[in-house]
Amino acid sequence: MTDTILITGGAGFIGRYVAQACLERGHKVRVLDSLIEQVHGNRNQSEGLDPDVEVVVGDVRDEAALLRALKGATKVVHLAAEVGVGQSMYAVDRYVSVNDYGTAVLFQQLIDNPVKRVVVASSMSIYGEGLYKDADGRIHEDVVRVPRRSESDPWDPLDDQGRPLIPVPTPEWKKPALASVYALSKYVQERLTLTLCPAYGMEGVALRLWNAYGPGQALSNPYTGVLAIFASRLHNGQPPMIFEDGRQRRDFVHVEDVAQAFVLALEHENAPGGVYNVGSGQDRTVSEVAELLSQAMNRPMAPEIAGKTRIGDIRHCIADIGRIQQELGYKSRKDFAEGLAELAEWVAKQEAKDLVNEARKELEARGLVA
Ligand code: UD1
Repeated sequence: MTDTILITGGAGFIGRYVAQACLERGHKVRVLDSLIEQVHGNRNQSEGLDPDVEVVVGDVRDEAALLRALKGATKVVHLAAEVGVGQSMYAVDRYVSVNDYGTAVLFQQLIDNPVKRVVVASSMSIYGEGLYKDADGRIHEDVVRVPRRSESDPWDPLDDQGRPLIPVPTPEWKKPALASVYALSKYVQERLTLTLCPAYGMEGVALRLWNAYGPGQALSNPYTGVLAIFASRLHNGQPPMIFEDGRQRRDFVHVEDVAQAFVLALEHENAPGGVYNVGSGQDRTVSEVAELLSQAMNRPMAPEIAGKTRIGDIRHCIADIGRIQQELGYKSRKDFAEGLAELAEWVAKQEAKDLVNEARKELEARGLVA
């Protein structure tokens, strides 16, 4: 059955892929997007969006814009959000306003204009530190990062005997541990969706995304994901700047696989009420991705290792994607090397302003890099 799907934040990196995937499934797609400059620069509103997508320009906090955007919609994908973990620690009012108040306004409108299903983009950030095991194989769920007191302190969290803990894939049952304003705001979005949908006869689904990457990332936004930042640095002949020691682990998931997860969450009969991790199922260190990317871009350049932490960052969090595979039939399709090669090819054709040093200064001036 085809639907009319409203995608808030749908002109953004992930939204454009979700829009495309929904069109390919035969749905009608409408996008509500404020096209903020930090993300979109001076881009034309329809750039990167299929001409079949209807675009409503407006802020998710603007009731009138939302009402227009919701007209005739049967399902909603809620992606509109501020996305920088580091920036969220100083632009607190903006992050809480867009992410949480924005979601509240959306639901206020949905109460009077209900849809069948709402899929919200939550984030792996809500876990805080991921799941760990110790040298004896015991699982640790409550690991909290403590600030290093000296240069000789290890980067990895330790168990009570002082042994480094080993990251293991984090499943959905791990309790949230909200380590940044961004994480807190994403958790609020997720809970608003899963609390309000059933109360008003709607189906709610939350996807906890890991680190999405691919062509179309916002290259000139210094608060975007690490791969886009590294790509922009390398493209401008600058070495990637790596926080900590570079051995922190994440799961980089190709944006087409993220779009696949959204389509499953929108269509699958098992999805309602569910919370699903979305990753590739393979984890990598930040240093490793810096190196693979510089090879893919043919810009061999040793990264600069900052040896400092960005306040609010977690050390390791890697994805257990068993639930979405089993319940919704998700498959991680894109090979990482192939994904990087495509990203490199796309970046080579872009102009990207490198604003990373300015962003780092903003964080340092506020004591948010230590
Ligand atoms: C990212 C997203 C977040 C999303 C989450 C899960 C951003 C800004 N954050 O969080 O929205 O919810 O994935 O998908 O897109 N790093 C460097 N050098 C840099 C930038 C970052 O070494 O120039 C490091 C960070 O310190 C961190 C790692 O790279 O250790 C990942 O950082 P980042 O890409 O910001 O992602 P997350 O915090 O994992």
